[in-house]
Amino acid sequence: MHRLNKKRILLGVTGGISAYKSTFLVRLLRKNGADVRVVMTKNACEFVTPLTFQALSSKPVHTELLDLDAESAMGHIKLAKWADLIIIAPASANFIARYANGFAADLLSTLCLATDSPVAIAPAMNQQMWLNDATQENIKKIKERGVAVIGPDSGEQACGDEGPGRMTEPEEITTFLAKIFQTDILTGSRLLVTAGPTREAIDPVRFLSNRSSGRMGYAIASAAVEAGADVTLVSGPVNIEAVGVEKIIYVTSAEEMCTSVMEKINTTDIFISVAAVADYYLQNFSKNKIKKINDSYQLMLHKTPDILAKVAALDNAPFTVGFAAETEDLKFNAIEKLRSKNLNMIAANQVGGTIGIDSEENALSVFWKSGEMKFPQNSKNKLARDLIKLIASRYNEKNSNKTH
Ligand code: C5P
Repeated sequence: MHRLNKKRILLGVTGGISAYKSTFLVRLLRKNGADVRVVMTKNACEFVTPLTFQALSSKPVHTELLDLDAESAMGHIKLAKWADLIIIAPASANFIARYANGFAADLLSTLCLATDSPVAIAPAMNQQMWLNDATQENIKKIKERGVAVIGPDSGEQACGDEGPGRMTEPEEITTFLAKIFQTDILTGSRLLVTAGPTREAIDPVRFLSNRSSGRMGYAIASAAVEAGADVTLVSGPVNIEAVGVEKIIYVTSAEEMCTSVMEKINTTDIFISVAAVADYYLQNFSKNKIKKINDSYQLMLHKTPDILAKVAALDNAPFTVGFAAETEDLKFNAIEKLRSKNLNMIAANQVGGTIGIDSEENALSVFWKSGEMKFPQNSKNKLARDLIKLIASRYNEKNSNKTH
């Protein structure tokens, strides 16, 4: 169930006796590595206390839409953006009706409107309420909008009735949620991703490098694994974990990164160059530590190999995607790079401010020969999933054109 590892899951609990089962769901999701935050409706608090969910999730529980303290800690829009996935369990008939009709009168229904992440619901109610035409129409409506409906199961109900309306068991919900992240859009393709900075030695203790954290490249590699690709990550020195990625080659310098990429490139279908490769290096770095003798010290720098351009220039080049971090004229510079390096696609981001290099969030403008797409500011994990979707569609289109 590694697909839930490090996933941010927002669990919405609505009023119903099965709310107690959701306490087990929190434990299970966390056991599988997910980071869980709980939102409860007023009615849910009548069945289980927020304190129970707070203790189990180790996070404050959110209950009010207009709560000044909660808003200043993590506002409702931020909370909606934070989530990789929203699961409502149990989802009462009342909540389903509000959701189906787009109400935003309480925190949970507002979050469901404000999110761009997948939403799943696990309905739980009396069998007659479930079978009622109004509920069935509401369920049909939300299913058509792409919401996943888990269950309900049939059997003996808390009220003594028999029939459909029991909330699906937490184990089954957990398995279902893990599958939501598995898209299979790149199954059968071999992907090579570079990430992180490189370090160019000055002497045995000093180096030239940059602020890249590796987060964007690592998120892309993880998203490609979720998409079913066979992924190899070539990584510069970073301090983060590659979730779900099994093949990682660690390198230090641009030269080493280039060698590792070139060794793998003949068995690569898609190359995504996210690494912030140093542009210059010292050909003759000092074998001994440089002494602090003179008032000034000059370094002679030489250009590193442009790995991306080298890959794109190969006779049998893979589908090649570059990145461009720009401080000015983003579109012009990105399109110029797309053309001069002969790439299939380029993802550009404006550096500076609170997003981009060395930050949790980013915003991307993606360009290819015949089109462009903007991905507004979001977590790097979500952007990575969106970018992988776009790359998969462009790559599959290019391949189908080749075979026709
Ligand atoms: O030309 P510029 O360095 O701005 O291009 C950025 C893109 O080129 C990124 O995708 C980066 O990974 C790649 N690059 C490279 N080798 C270099 C420098 C940049 O592959 N030496």
